[in-house]
Amino acid sequence: RKGQDVRIASQLGILMDSNKATSSTPGVVVVASTNSVDAIDPALRRYGRFDIETDVTVPNKKERLQILELYTRKIPRNSCDLESIAASCNGYVGADLWALCREAIKSAIRRSLIAKKDVKKDSSLTMEDWKNASSLVQPSITRGITVEIPDVTWNDIGGLKDVKTKLRQAVEWPMKHPAAFSRLGITPNRGILLHGPPGCSKTTLAKAAANAANVPFFSLRGDSSSSSSAASERLLSTLLTEMDGLEEAKGVLVFAATNRPYLLDAALMRPGRFDMILYVPPPDLEGRLEILNVHTRRMKLQSDVDLRKLAEDTELFTGAELAGLCREVGTAALRENIDASVVFDRHFQIVKNALNPSLTKEAIDSYSSFRKTSSRSGCLE
Ligand SMILES: Nc1ncnc2c1ncn2[C@@H]1O[C@H](COP(=O)(O)OP(=O)(O)OP(=O)(O)O)[C@@H](O)[C@H]1O
Ligand SMILES: [Mg+2]
Repeated sequence: RKGQDVRIASQLGILMDSNKATSSTPGVVVVASTNSVDAIDPALRRYGRFDIETDVTVPNKKERLQILELYTRKIPRNSCDLESIAASCNGYVGADLWALCREAIKSAIRRSLIAKKDVKKDSSLTMEDWKNASSLVQPSITRGITVEIPDVTWNDIGGLKDVKTKLRQAVEWPMKHPAAFSRLGITPNRGILLHGPPGCSKTTLAKAAANAANVPFFSLRGDSSSSSSAASERLLSTLLTEMDGLEEAKGVLVFAATNRPYLLDAALMRPGRFDMILYVPPPDLEGRLEILNVHTRRMKLQSDVDLRKLAEDTELFTGAELAGLCREVGTAALRENIDASVVFDRHFQIVKNALNPSLTKEAIDSYSSFRKTSSRSGCLE
């Protein structure tokens, strides 16, 4: 395939080079489209070949309205608020909207058939039709993503008392006390950015928040391996348009997590986008003790195991490393005796001594320094 691709690309290049317009021959305009512009041979993307590039992105609310109007222009829709339908169709692309309109129209026709009316003359769209349609047509971007309510709860996360409290307030208060929010004229948070060293439960916190709110969680990963700045810029701009689109969508909260917050664009930090920024630190002594407790809940511990002493001896360990330690301890006990049902302190010692924490004091300082600079500017948290 690869060789064939290269041959086709160079053939196309040759054809385009020989396609110079003269005054007598106006020439040919070549228009091409792609889903992955980065996969296009750079030789084709230079001046003289494909020298104009435009991004055709996911439609915004206004564009969605225009598309809906276009596909329903032949059927009366007097009682429908197309604008609110467009607002609720976040993430739908043109093809999705077309499918949505088709299903809505089908539903309207079905209704007039049942009522024995003249389909051509008497069909008209109602909000009910749109409801039927949207239960059938989901935005294609979410196809293949399993959307589930995570089973992680706040109790599965050790330590991080302050972070948990702030998250609970941001997630649970707007649901439990909507009247209080409207009384004081405040709007709930729209975006929460968690930052801090790897393995310290940023993702787990987001899952626990989704669980508490009883809403599905799905995660998108800004691929860290694609260091191409064009790719990350596109991701960023998609995120920004999406977040602006969410202004109308009530009850949507965007969580983002990063280990490198200083790489994020200032545009993302604008109030109204990520309006709460929380540092998720590595666990302190009490935090480590709680994490060890969480991950040994289902383990039988011999009385010589002193988790507090272990917490003291595991400074710089992240939550992920402590979780890994507990997992390994069970294996160590089994390695000694395949019939073992209890773990001893010696198993903890063996595993702990074989582990080296990946964090250092300096690394932690640099992770937490973003918090200091950002809170000094006074616009965050
Ligand atoms: N405070 C904690 N309490 C209990 N378990 C924890 C805690 N922190 C981390 N863990 C364990 O470590 C695992 C990894 O944590 P998580 O994926 O949430 O880290 P993260 O901060 O999102 O890391 P990354 O930056 O690499 O994405 C969790 O599945 C959990 O088992
Ligand atoms: Mg994570």
